[in-house]
Amino acid sequence: MHIGRDIVRIDGHAKVTGAARYVDDVRPDDCLYAATVRSTIAHGRIVSIDQDPAFDWSDVTLATAKDVPGENVVALMTDDQPVLADGVVRHVAEPVALVAAPTRDKALAAVRHVRVTYAPLDPLFDPEASEGSATRIFGEDNVFSRITIDHGDARGALAAGGTVIEGTYRVGLQEQLYIEPQGMIAIPRADGGMTLFGSMQCPYYIVKALTRVLGHDKLNVVQAATGGGFGGKEEYPSMVAAHAATLAVKTGKPVKLIYRRDEDLRATTKRHPAIMHYRTAVDPDTGKLLAADIRLLFDGGAYNTLSPVVLSRGVIHAMGPYACPNVRVEGRMVATHTPPNGAFRGFGAPQVMFAAERHMDRIARTLGRDPLELRRINLYRDGDVTPTGQRLHDVGGAEVVERAMAACEAPLPPSMHGTRPGGGGSAGRRAPGRGVAIAWHGCGFTGNGEAALKGKADVALEGDRVVVYTASTDIGQGTDTIFPSIVADVLGIDVERVRNADHDTGLVPDSGPTVASRTAMVVGQVVKRGAEKLLDALRAEVGGGPDDSFDALRAKRKTDAPLRVQSQYEDQGAIWDATTYQGEAYPTYGWSCVVVDLDVDLDTGEVLYRRLVQATDVGKALNPVLCSGQLEGGALQGLGYATCEEVVLDDQHGMINNRLTNYIIPTSLDAPEMVTELVEIPFEFGPFGAKGIGEIPHDVPAAAVAQAIEAAAGVVLDVLPMTPERVMTALEAKGPGRDA
Ligand code: MOS
Repeated sequence: MHIGRDIVRIDGHAKVTGAARYVDDVRPDDCLYAATVRSTIAHGRIVSIDQDPAFDWSDVTLATAKDVPGENVVALMTDDQPVLADGVVRHVAEPVALVAAPTRDKALAAVRHVRVTYAPLDPLFDPEASEGSATRIFGEDNVFSRITIDHGDARGALAAGGTVIEGTYRVGLQEQLYIEPQGMIAIPRADGGMTLFGSMQCPYYIVKALTRVLGHDKLNVVQAATGGGFGGKEEYPSMVAAHAATLAVKTGKPVKLIYRRDEDLRATTKRHPAIMHYRTAVDPDTGKLLAADIRLLFDGGAYNTLSPVVLSRGVIHAMGPYACPNVRVEGRMVATHTPPNGAFRGFGAPQVMFAAERHMDRIARTLGRDPLELRRINLYRDGDVTPTGQRLHDVGGAEVVERAMAACEAPLPPSMHGTRPGGGGSAGRRAPGRGVAIAWHGCGFTGNGEAALKGKADVALEGDRVVVYTASTDIGQGTDTIFPSIVADVLGIDVERVRNADHDTGLVPDSGPTVASRTAMVVGQVVKRGAEKLLDALRAEVGGGPDDSFDALRAKRKTDAPLRVQSQYEDQGAIWDATTYQGEAYPTYGWSCVVVDLDVDLDTGEVLYRRLVQATDVGKALNPVLCSGQLEGGALQGLGYATCEEVVLDDQHGMINNRLTNYIIPTSLDAPEMVTELVEIPFEFGPFGAKGIGEIPHDVPAAAVAQAIEAAAGVVLDVLPMTPERVMTALEAKGPGRDA
């Protein structure tokens, strides 16, 4: 058996030996290199696009909006985003033109010799000024989407009594910072079609988008080995593919487009900034939440991308994992002349969960209660009802808290930061603090998303081996190991005999995008049923009995022909009303308790991490070491969100610190000791009980850090990131008087 055991990653060997083929490792014959001409201003009319006559254009192809072979649109939720700006630019770094040349150097040089003249227009950067502004970016009023959840009578209950507590919480942009930048190759096919090969999460998104861009559907999309995504390669690769394909059509040759790091950081999507206002009534005697009125404002940037879905997850998670009988949540996603924001691990949840948890701390502070005690009083239990009216089952809230607190009793490791490179530092005044935060995270698509998509997977017997056909990519999280493990256990064979087929849309059915913590839980179950169907089909073919093993059945076959079956998502009958936002918002939820121990350097405002304990309800750990790895990596990304990752914008809202040297993410040297407790409360419809785990670890480390900073140094921060400058400013505002 393989499930529940630490099977070695099937793709690991190729990756560590360098055999794996990333997009930049591939160079088709006669391949041209592409580069992108980008807007230097946030908003303006394009007056002219000229080629510098002093430059040698003889072997360079230039493409502008009129060269897009089909429709000039990146098809996603709405058709507002062009492949190439046509007449107007709406954000800095927006693609205006493309060049293709025989070498990358020539392409980059050509970009510098394309002269774009703009007539600048007033930019709109402030999301609070966006709705109804005379400066129009999107639709009638600059609102991409608006969602209201109304459960009970929040405003009536707030007026009726209890202690009313109000707070505003702000979070900034965050960059996904996959190690491998965006990249794609478009290869004209002999039959007049097109192959797209590149770094991506969602091959079928590109099929959908490129069908419009090319004006035909003779295309296949193939995932290259992919160096991380974190949501950043959910929708953006459609843009890169559209550009490579436009040039491939114009030149008739393969075209390779790989972003530079600085370009990737300036041009691609990031996590949405948000301003979140909470007003709650609490019973001062029992500590129970009575009512909440929550207003969320998200900045979508210049184009819609997937923002309405991000807002959806945001409003549903806004209350945090706490029962409250009267809840109103009003969310707005508005447009600004900022590069579009998009999918990023957690997808709206990390923003609201920071606010929800900080607000619980504010309530505890106001009532003079212990923050953990307040959380325990209000934490969801089985049978509780969420703001969307969903009755909860298999709730892991209480258990993850107990498991995390028990793990915290072990002595803390010595501070790793006692000495610094170059000496010094150890004389600093350090104040220790601990923070505890709790997350819930809906696994899989929101509402009836899975039922509408009906994801498919094929499982095939080919010779003595079994092949799994899905569009579910491995972007580092382990799909190419997990699916074969599931199939091997159903069939009772060694996992070495099972592999995932290439994620090529010419070969695989649409199992849906690799997003939303859905792949192992949702597609994994479709794959499991596929393996069961294969066994049934084999039994029927050879007339075998129920006790015959897979290999015994196989030995009775009279043919070597492949035996391939298809399995499809089975509707679990969830009721969801997307108009009222009432019903079963998710098939199930993951639960996690995070405890962070840290030191605050009182002289510099720097936060030094010591230990992060997380206990997470994963349903079933299909592969414990991969599962823990996902949780620990996600938590470290959450610590980056907490204290070091800050996107600094210039006066055109372009990212200034667009380098790995100045956009600071935590490295292994910054990482605390990690203790990860896997709690297994099975989900009935998950494979072997598994729940989704990809996103939950990013949800609340930042809130735990904020609480720990407060415990350590007595300063309250309600904003992310809590950089040393922000912590120091808060320490100075508080004044002297506390010694470490
Ligand atoms: Mo994800 S942020 O659902 O790619």
